[in-house]
Amino acid sequence: MKGACPLSLAAWIFLIGAGGVRAADAIAAPAKKTDEAAIERGKQALLGRSFNPPAFSLKAYDRVWKQWGTEKEAPADYERRLREHYGLHLAPYPNGKLPMGLREARGLLGKGLTTDCLACHGGSIFGKSYVGLPNSSLDYHALIEDLSRADELPVNMPFRFTTVRGTTEAGAMAVYLFSIRDADLQLRSPPLDLGLKDDMCEDAPAWWLLKKKKTMYHHGGMDARSVRSLMQFMLTPLNGKHVFEREEKTFRDIQAYLLSLEPPRYPLPIDRPLAQRGEKLFAEHCARCHGTYGDQPTYPNRIVPLEEIGTDPTRYRGLSKQFNEHYYATWFGEESLGPRGERRRATETGGYQAPPLDGIWATAPYFHNGSVPTVYHVLNSKARPTIFTRSYQTDQSAYDAVNLGWKVQVLKKGGEAQGTAFERRKVYDTTQPGRGNRGHPYGDKLTDSERFALLEYLKTL
Ligand code: HEC
Ligand code: HEC
Repeated sequence: MKGACPLSLAAWIFLIGAGGVRAADAIAAPAKKTDEAAIERGKQALLGRSFNPPAFSLKAYDRVWKQWGTEKEAPADYERRLREHYGLHLAPYPNGKLPMGLREARGLLGKGLTTDCLACHGGSIFGKSYVGLPNSSLDYHALIEDLSRADELPVNMPFRFTTVRGTTEAGAMAVYLFSIRDADLQLRSPPLDLGLKDDMCEDAPAWWLLKKKKTMYHHGGMDARSVRSLMQFMLTPLNGKHVFEREEKTFRDIQAYLLSLEPPRYPLPIDRPLAQRGEKLFAEHCARCHGTYGDQPTYPNRIVPLEEIGTDPTRYRGLSKQFNEHYYATWFGEESLGPRGERRRATETGGYQAPPLDGIWATAPYFHNGSVPTVYHVLNSKARPTIFTRSYQTDQSAYDAVNLGWKVQVLKKGGEAQGTAFERRKVYDTTQPGRGNRGHPYGDKLTDSERFALLEYLKTL
C-alpha cells in the first residue's frame, strides 16, 4: 500500500475536534436535570461498548513491547509496564486486562483491539483512576504507531497525533477525518484540503466541567448542548451515515453521563483560614472570568479575546475556516440545538474560554496547551519554566502539593534535541510552535503570600 491509508489510519481515530464557532451569550446552559436512566445507559455505553470496528489485532497488545527497543522478552509485570510506557491508566470499570482507552471490539473478521474516548479523557491521580480526568501522561503517537507496527500494518502517519507527551493533536484528527468525507459523508479521495495543522498541543478539558458550560472546546466554539460533535470519532471509513443516525440517541445518553460527573476532592489537609483569605482574593481578581463556587455557583462563560488573554494563539488559529464550513455542510452541522429546532452556524469567537476551576488541583498541566505545570506558575508568569520534563507518573510522589500540579525537572536549552522521537516528546519546550507559555497575567501583581492563599482556596473547589 502506498502513502497514507485512510482505512487503517482512520480506523483508530477517536476524536473530538472543534467545530464551528459562535458567540457565547445567546445560548442556554445544557439541561442540568437529566434523568437517571439516561445517565446509566450512557455510562454503560461509554464504558462498555465500542463504536468503531477493531483497528488492531488482540495479539498486537501482547507483542507491542518488541517496539520499545529496551526489552529482550515480555516484562514480567507487563500490564503495568505497558501502561507506563504509553501513559495509560488502570480502568476503574470492567475492561479485562486492558487499561482505560483500549478495548476489545468486534468486527467482520472477529475480535480485535481498538481505542476509545478514555485514552484521552481517562486519567489517574494519587493512584486512583477517574473517567473524565484528562490524561496528561499519554503519548498517543507512540501508542498508535507501535500497535500498527506490532500488526505489521503500514506505518505512515499523515501527521503527529502527539507532538509533546500529555497533549494530543485532537483537532488535526478531526480535520483529517472530515477531509476524507464529502458533505453527504460519503468517503472521498483525494482528501479535501481543510488546512490540517498538527502543532496545537491540546490538553483535554475535564468532563465534569461540561455541565457548567454554554459553549465548549478551548475557544468556546461549539454549543455545549451538541451531541453530534461528540460523534466525530466515528467518522472512520467503515461507518456509513446510517451508523451516525442510529447511534445519535446513544450519544445523547453518553452526554447525560458526562453531565453527571463530579471532580475528585483534594486528598490532603487544607488550611481553612488561609483558604478563606484566598476566597476573598479570588472574588476580587478571578471570579469575573472563572465564576463563583459554593452552594450557589455562577459561571459567566466568558471568552477572552486572544490579545487580552495573551496565551498561545496557535490552537485558536489552527482550525481553518474551510474546516468550519465543511463541518457545517455535513450532517454534523444540521443538528437542532435550541428548543425551537434552531440550527447554529459558525462564527469566530476570537479567544479562549475561561474554564470553571472545579477540581483544578487534579488537572495539571494548565492552559489549553498544557504549557504550565502548576497553578502557582499560572499565577506567576515570570517564574514559569521554559523547557522541562516530568516523570509522567501520577502517584503522590509525582505531585507537587506546594505549587499544585506536577513536579518538573527544568532543562537547559538544547536538551530537547536529544534521543529518539519518543524521548524527545517527553520534553516540553515552550519556545516551540503551539507550546508558548505566556499570557494570563492576572496573578503577576500578587505577592507570593497572596498566591499561596489563592492556591489554598482552589484546593477546596
Ligand atoms: C485523541 C484524544 C481524544 C479522544 C480520543 C477524545 N477526545 Fe474529547 N477532547 C480531546 C481534546 C484535546 C479536547 C479539547 C479540544 C479543543 O478544544 O482543542 C476534547 C474535547 C472534548 C469535549 C469538550 C469539553 C469541553 O469542556 O470543552 C468533550 C465533551 C469531549 N471531548 C468528549 C469526547 C468523547 C465523548 C470522546 C469519545 C467519543 C472523545 N472526546 C474522544 C481529546 C480527545
Ligand atoms: C480576564 C479573564 C480572566 C481572569 C481575570 C483570570 N483568568 Fe484564569 N483563565 C482565563 C482564561 C481565558 C483561561 C484559559 C487560557 C488558555 O487556556 O489559553 C484561564 C485559565 C486559568 C487556569 C488554567 C485552567 C486550566 O484548566 O488549564 C487557572 C488555574 C486560572 N485561569 C486561574 C485564575 C486565577 C486564580 C485568577 C485570579 C488570580 C484568574 N485565573 C484570573 C481568564 C481569566
